[in-house]
Amino acid sequence: MKSHEKNLLLQTKYNVTASFYDILDYPWERIYKKWRPALVRDLRGEILEAGVGTGRNLKFYHQDVELVGIDLSKQMLSKAEKRKTKARCKVSLLHEDATVMRSIDSNKFDWIFSTFMCCVMPDEIQNLAIEQFSRVLKPGGRFRLLEIVYSKNKKIRKRQDFFTPFVEMVYGARFDRNTLRHIEQSSTLKVTKTSFLKDDTYLLIEGIRV
Ligand SMILES: C[S@@+](CC[C@H](N)C(=O)[O-])C[C@H]1O[C@@H](n2cnc3c(N)ncnc32)[C@H](O)[C@@H]1O
Repeated sequence: MKSHEKNLLLQTKYNVTASFYDILDYPWERIYKKWRPALVRDLRGEILEAGVGTGRNLKFYHQDVELVGIDLSKQMLSKAEKRKTKARCKVSLLHEDATVMRSIDSNKFDWIFSTFMCCVMPDEIQNLAIEQFSRVLKPGGRFRLLEIVYSKNKKIRKRQDFFTPFVEMVYGARFDRNTLRHIEQSSTLKVTKTSFLKDDTYLLIEGIRV
């Protein structure tokens, strides 16, 4: 299957999943909701949230933020529209593919922020998204991405293997995406810090556009 077809499949998947996404995700969201405020607390200026989903991060942004949230799925965005009312900052939500960002100007953003988007994005098109991140960030602009990856711990890995068919079917997510490696190969984005939020599975990738 060609990469744009995979993307189309992902879009269709999320258009269907959107109506029960928050219910399905509830067991994980109980953990994520503790992390979300801290992940965006220090972000200021013009921010692009890629793969904004149902808008779980929106209410945590500082009031001095101007946020553009993009997503591949119109149905996910319509859920996010409802959460927009809880945000303290100015929010615009756009139906945009992160690998294209047709309507988004170059050198616009101070930050790119994303939670769990690259782990659903096929590896073959991740470099397209990374090129777009680089294009739309201002020079010196920063990025922070939270992704889920395979653990090296046998016990955790066994649990991940158990959930693999479910997460791939429902979210299109995989634990073996190589987001960090793709960014490290970029000539314009520089990784400045990696850390794990839990075990060695929730990988936070931070960096700067040089
Ligand atoms: C696992 S959900 C995460 C949603 C949200 N960020 C969160 O933390 O709850 C992944 C989201 O990324 C979106 N997505 C996947 N590929 C995308 C792309 N190429 N461009 C924009 N959004 C994309 C999906 O439609 C979905 O809403």
